[in-house]
Amino acid sequence: MNRNPKEKYIGILTQKELLKLYSKHVNGPKVRMFKGFGLGVIPGERDGIHLKTLEGVKPGTPPLDLYNCRSSGGVFNLGHRNPRIIQRLKDALDGGLDVGDHLLLSEWRALLGKKLAELMPGDISKTTFGVSGGEAIDTAIKFARAYTKRKKCISADGGYHGHTGFALLTGDPDFKDPFLWNSPNFKQIPYGDIEAMRNAITEDVACVILETIPASGGVLIAPEGYYPEVREICDDKGVMLINDEVQAGLGRTGAFWGIYGGLYPNEKVVPDFIVCGKGMSSSLYPLSTCSYKPFIEKAVYKDDPFIHISTTGGSDLGCAIAHEMLEIQSDPKFLAHVKEMGKLFGIGLEEIAGEHSDIIKETRGRGLMWGLEFYNEDDSRLGMLSIIKAGVLLNYCGNKKDTHIIMPPLIVKKEEIEEILIRIRQGIINLKKIKKN
Ligand SMILES: Cc1ncc(COP(=O)(O)O)c(C=O)c1O
Repeated sequence: MNRNPKEKYIGILTQKELLKLYSKHVNGPKVRMFKGFGLGVIPGERDGIHLKTLEGVKPGTPPLDLYNCRSSGGVFNLGHRNPRIIQRLKDALDGGLDVGDHLLLSEWRALLGKKLAELMPGDISKTTFGVSGGEAIDTAIKFARAYTKRKKCISADGGYHGHTGFALLTGDPDFKDPFLWNSPNFKQIPYGDIEAMRNAITEDVACVILETIPASGGVLIAPEGYYPEVREICDDKGVMLINDEVQAGLGRTGAFWGIYGGLYPNEKVVPDFIVCGKGMSSSLYPLSTCSYKPFIEKAVYKDDPFIHISTTGGSDLGCAIAHEMLEIQSDPKFLAHVKEMGKLFGIGLEEIAGEHSDIIKETRGRGLMWGLEFYNEDDSRLGMLSIIKAGVLLNYCGNKKDTHIIMPPLIVKKEEIEEILIRIRQGIINLKKIKKN
C-alpha cells in the first residue's frame, strides 16, 4: 500500500486499490456503476466549497478539483471543514463532552432545543432528536399517528423522505417494492395539485408530509397558494402537516425556513412538524431533528417519557456544533448573502438555459437550490458527467432523472459563482460536442 505518512487519512489507497476493496467489502454494484460512468468521483482533499477527487478521470492522473455544487443536499451548507465548526467541535471535545447518555437529560440537547424553538415559525417549540433525516421523518409520522389516533399518511409522487421505516413508505415504489414494503395507509398524490390533495385528505388521515421544494423529485416549485391551502384543508379535517426541510431549510432558500417565506416571500405557513437533517450535522457530526407544536408532546410522552428513544440521536457533541451552525446560518447578514448569491446564480443559469434551449427545457429554484431540466434523461446523464469533468460536482435528481439539482454551499462567493457558471456552460458545450460525434 502506498501510505503517505503526511496524509494519514486521505490518499491511503490508490483509486484502483479502493475500488477493489469497496467492491469486495462494501458495495460491488455501486463500483460497477461508477466504472460505467468512467468517472471515479472519490472524495479526497476537501476545503470550503472545493472537493478534490482522489485521482483524475484516468487512474494515476492528477485529481479533479471540483466546486461542490451537490453539498450532499445541504450537509455542506457551510462548505467542507468550516473553521468555526471545527473549532467548536474541538472545544466541545476539550471541554469534556462525548455522545452523552440518551436516557439521561442533557444540557446541550436543552440548549439546542431552545435555539431551535427561537427560530421555528409559530409555536413549534419542542424537539426530538435523531441521527438521520429518515429517522426524524419516522419520528414525525409516529407522533402524528399517536396524536390523531389515525393511520393514514399522504405524500407526493416523486417525493423523498428517507429509506427507513415510515419514511420509506411515503416514497416511490422503486425503493420499497424490492423490500416487500408497502401499506394501504400510505398514499402518494401528484405534487402541487391542490384538487388531488383535497380529494386525498379525509377524516381518517393522520398526516400529510411534503418537502417544501421536492429535491429528488426534480426541484419542483409548487404554485403560489398551494401550501396555505394545504394547511387550511389539514386544519379542516384535523390532519397534521409535516414539513420536510431537510434540503430546503436552514437558509437554503435565502429565508431561514423554506415553508416560512422561502418559497414565496409573503407565504408564511406554520406546519405542525418541521424536520431537519443533513445540514443539522454541520457536516461534522450526524444529527437530525423533528420539531413540533407543544400539544403533540402529551399524546406521545405523557404515559411513558421513554416511549421513543435514540441512543446517538441528539448526542452532546452533535448538539454543541449544531448550535454554532444555527447561529451562523440564522444571521440576517448570512441570509441576505444567500439571497444575493442565489439571484446571481439563478440569472446565470437562466442565461445558460437560454443559450442551449435546444437541450435544456427549464431552470427553476429558490435561493441557492436550483434545478436544470433537460428535454431527456440521456442528455441529463451525459450532461452531469460532462459538467463534473469541467469541474463542478452536481447530480441528477433521483426521482426525476432529466433534471440536475444544483446546490452550492451557502458560503459561496460572487467570483466563485462566476467560475461555477463558466464551468457549467463549458460542460454543456462539451456535451453537445460529444453528441455531435
Ligand atoms: C428531503 C429529504 N428528506 C429526508 C431525507 C433522508 O435523510 P437521511 O438520508 O439522512 O436519512 C433526505 C435524504 O436525501 C432528503 O433529501
